[in-house]
Amino acid sequence: MKTVTTLPELRTARAALPDPLGFVPTMGYLHEGHLALVRAAQACCQSVVVSIFVNPAQFGPNEDLAKYPRDIPRDLALLEQAGVNLVWLPTPEVIYPPGFQTWVEVAEVSQPLEGGMRPGHFRGVATVVAKLFNAVGPQFAFFGQKDAQQVAVLRQMVTDLHFPLELVVVPTDREPDGLARSSRNVYLTAEERAQAPALYRALTAAQTAYTAGERDAEALRAAMQAALAAAPLAQVQYVSCAHPRTLAELETIGPEGALLSMAVYFGKTRLIDNLVLQGK
Ligand code: PAF
Repeated sequence: MKTVTTLPELRTARAALPDPLGFVPTMGYLHEGHLALVRAAQACCQSVVVSIFVNPAQFGPNEDLAKYPRDIPRDLALLEQAGVNLVWLPTPEVIYPPGFQTWVEVAEVSQPLEGGMRPGHFRGVATVVAKLFNAVGPQFAFFGQKDAQQVAVLRQMVTDLHFPLELVVVPTDREPDGLARSSRNVYLTAEERAQAPALYRALTAAQTAYTAGERDAEALRAAMQAALAAAPLAQVQYVSCAHPRTLAELETIGPEGALLSMAVYFGKTRLIDNLVLQGK
């Protein structure tokens, strides 16, 4: 496995790799969810590139960039073991050189849900991912369904800017009790951890109602709220039943289906989860 930092090093190393090339962008501190993206890339690509870059542009003023967990030696060992071909570890100066002033903003899809809670977040994500795509030149790029709005924003960006690649979405990796795997889960106390599967229970309660024929979006939001109310430590920030592409809140679920999503605090730990209701 080769590791590179600068853009010229990356371009030389990338040019030597066979196509189709799969790309997995990360912010490091890798967990099983990231490795699932790597395995999905290996399943359909001749070579796999992973980037590790804690992107300052997607952190808000109240989000602590300095405290974001980092462990590059461990990440590299995991990627080597997984059989990744090339790891790109750009510095902030490589990505945002002095004088940098070009931003990618996916106007509408970035606004609701997570975008409403974290202004500017998706502008930072879209900008860095566009730059990473331009530099790496993959045919396939892999993202987790866990960050459903990130996927929706990047899909729109790929379409609007004609990136010649396919975005592949990998299902959310879950603990046996349904809790979506996340590096944040370690911050939960034992009591919070025991109640955290309420998110998945709420999503599946709404899915069950949908499968039984319920098409009223407010009824599904109410079903999710009711299931979350059974977990006394859960403080709900939002529950949503939205159009799967535009993310606009729905009144009635139509033929395109819906994205169910939520953000819930357990103490200081904010958990998100989602589930796609397939349309007809
Ligand atoms: O999902 C992430 O880890 C980040 O948002 C990404 C896509 C690597 C961009 O910094």
